[in-house]
Amino acid sequence: MSPGCRNVRRLATTGLALLLLTAAGTAVPARSAEAAPAPLDRIVPAPASVRPGGEPYEITSRTVVRVPPGNPEAARIGGYLAGLLRPSTGYRLPVLPGGTDGPGIRLVLDEDTGDTGDTGDAGKGDEGGEGYRLSVTAHAVTISAREGAGLFHGVQTLRQLLPARAERTERQPGPWTVAGGVVTDAPRYGYRGAMLDVARHFFTVDQVKRYIDQLALYKYNALHLHLSDDQGWRIAVRSWPRLAGHGGSTQVGGGAGGFYSQDDYREIVRHAASRYLTVVPEIDMPGHTNAALASYARLNCDGVARPLYTGTEVGFSSLCVAKQDTYDFVEDVIGELAALTPGPYLHIGGDEAHSTGHADYAAFMERVQPVVARHGKTVIGWHQLAGARPAPGALLQYWGYGRTGAAERDQVVSAARAGAGLILSPADRAYLDMKYTKDTPLGLQWAGLVEVRQSYDWDPGGYLEGAPAEAVAGVEAPLWTETITTSAQLEYMAFPRLAGIAELGWSPRATHDWASYRVRLAAQGPRWDALGIAHYRSPQVAWPAP
Ligand code: ACM
Repeated sequence: MSPGCRNVRRLATTGLALLLLTAAGTAVPARSAEAAPAPLDRIVPAPASVRPGGEPYEITSRTVVRVPPGNPEAARIGGYLAGLLRPSTGYRLPVLPGGTDGPGIRLVLDEDTGDTGDTGDAGKGDEGGEGYRLSVTAHAVTISAREGAGLFHGVQTLRQLLPARAERTERQPGPWTVAGGVVTDAPRYGYRGAMLDVARHFFTVDQVKRYIDQLALYKYNALHLHLSDDQGWRIAVRSWPRLAGHGGSTQVGGGAGGFYSQDDYREIVRHAASRYLTVVPEIDMPGHTNAALASYARLNCDGVARPLYTGTEVGFSSLCVAKQDTYDFVEDVIGELAALTPGPYLHIGGDEAHSTGHADYAAFMERVQPVVARHGKTVIGWHQLAGARPAPGALLQYWGYGRTGAAERDQVVSAARAGAGLILSPADRAYLDMKYTKDTPLGLQWAGLVEVRQSYDWDPGGYLEGAPAEAVAGVEAPLWTETITTSAQLEYMAFPRLAGIAELGWSPRATHDWASYRVRLAAQGPRWDALGIAHYRSPQVAWPAP
């Protein structure tokens, strides 16, 4: 399963600015021909329930955003919504505590919203408080939720009900009309992740924050950061400073690389939390460790530091399973990372350990998993961890595909039957770095070509035959960056497929339908244009003319 050759070419993005000018040259709001509001069900991910009807609501210069008094979190979400809409509408949109019976856009915290199980699907309720109800009348848009996460997801739904030009940062013509009716929504799965490989190529804090904002559009709730690999170590560890200082000093192709200081990492965690995403840090072990082996001679069985590595082949590196230094390193790295990470998970990799014997691999995982637990975190590992003994409560991230052998798949199914959880990232569906077609300039193709329909048209609940449905914790869309060096390239690979994986993770199985999805997806194109998000205009989707 080792990745093949990689060619990096660069993409250019263009920013489009739309300006309406009077004879005097000042920008004014004008009534647009596009007056009919977007249908209430034209949302990605598809809501659990949509009941259109009644009068639409129009955001005007008099609209206010009302939030519950004495609740800083709801006030912050109200401010976030107003901040999104002020530049394009040109309205003041003041955020007012209280008066939630009054007209306007109202955020309401309500114990009874979201946990009703009325999504009729996985039957897990809404443990994360992510459900919401959005009700639109001529008087008000009301978003109710049990918790801030639900209010935030409801705001994302409201964004999609407004014209795409609402996302622009220059003043645009109205009207700003939202169709009448009620959306009742809650996620199918509690884990909906996206992975960014910052090890093969380094991405700055600002680039990661930009991606977090894009993940929030589609109600993702986990950002998995692949923080270490053969080519780079990307997180400062105080007790082992050469990991970042030396191991972070290059990347694929030999560029300067980079790493996050602990404050940088905290900033990513803070920004992710403001968008209701948990950061899942990954230190990939015992393979994919050349950057660490290059940084400290004593981590190598022969006591000789390896040279830094800037290629893309995999499977040649291994921590020294027999040495106590290895477990001192694991203890310190996991301890510091756990202390920096408020989320419940720590990912320990475990994939492609082709230079670690099976017994050594199992012995290593027997010692490492309890370290994660001792620091208060739950283990996530790539699905090869099923070949050892997954710790109680561990989640296995399945990245197999059509050519994955039956024995390997069966091992994962058995582990799931024995209680391991599953995160589904089948490489021929969910890997955002696979080429769309043979002509895609970026990406790899070892798992096949992954066009938009191929990426969307599968069911996480039934994907691993024989695994209990309750074992499925959710889905994740990984983006490996052997060929990716810029945000524009990253976005081109992620969009549109990122939206489809989000729908598989959020929406009830009964709503999954390519024919309806491609219509809803087409409506996202102008939003991405408005947001300056580079994307692949797949011929499988009838995009509106740009
Ligand atoms: C992987 O793609 N090696 C998890």
